[in-house]
Amino acid sequence: MRRTDVIQSLLKKQKSPAYLEIGVEHGQNFFLLKAASKTAVDPNFAFSFKEKLRWMYKNPYNLSARYYEMTSDKYFETVGTTQKIDVVFIDGLHTYEQSLKDVLNSLNVLKENGVIVMHDCNPPHKAAAYAATTKEEASTANIPGWTGEWCGDVWKTICYLRSTRKDLQVFVLDTDYGLGIITKKGQAETELLTNTPAQIEAMTYEDFDQDRVQILGLKNKEYFSTFLETL
Ligand SMILES: C[S@@+](CC[C@H](N)C(=O)[O-])C[C@H]1O[C@@H](n2cnc3c(N)ncnc32)[C@H](O)[C@@H]1O
Repeated sequence: MRRTDVIQSLLKKQKSPAYLEIGVEHGQNFFLLKAASKTAVDPNFAFSFKEKLRWMYKNPYNLSARYYEMTSDKYFETVGTTQKIDVVFIDGLHTYEQSLKDVLNSLNVLKENGVIVMHDCNPPHKAAAYAATTKEEASTANIPGWTGEWCGDVWKTICYLRSTRKDLQVFVLDTDYGLGIITKKGQAETELLTNTPAQIEAMTYEDFDQDRVQILGLKNKEYFSTFLETL
């Protein structure tokens, strides 16, 4: 089960779903999805006009898709302020600061029963969790064990939300580099983690690795069908 399957299953729950993807690159996920309204945001789309046309033919849901070539911050400031969204997929800049901003901005446009999915919450090893300001910086930093996989410190955003936001339901599915799931349902039965923002800032990969199941609220992928039934 990969990100596209999870997102499509969530979209299927709605009659006429609105989908927003932050960080689209080649459109490997975006172009495949079926949703009445599709919005793509990326400062550097990595596909040609011809590819976009080809995908309109292959998947007619792309005919009415909207493309905003800009950062997520710019998008939320200028364009994405009114339309309410059913499913947001956050997969832009993989830093703690930016991924947290993307979640907070997405919550403002998320429908009450909507779902945010965030990629790269469960880095497979230390090199993939390297905290850099861009992927280029990480890939040229001569990090021991670098494989080209980059999740950055997005995991800290999950830790922050699970430590501070009782009004949100937050957990991570253990598949496809960790798919964070965030809803407005609240974590009533779950105790918040006890980390302060300053402690989260200071946490290392080793701290995370020792306790990742608890920090992420990590669930095996089979749990996704149970979660779907709650929506
Ligand atoms: C890992 S790729 C996205 C992959 C895509 N979501 C998929 O599933 O195939 C990350 C993308 O985020 C984009 N990005 C980087 N900074 C961004 C920002 N501030 N706002 C939105 N997108 C950003 C990059 O240009 C890159 O194309």
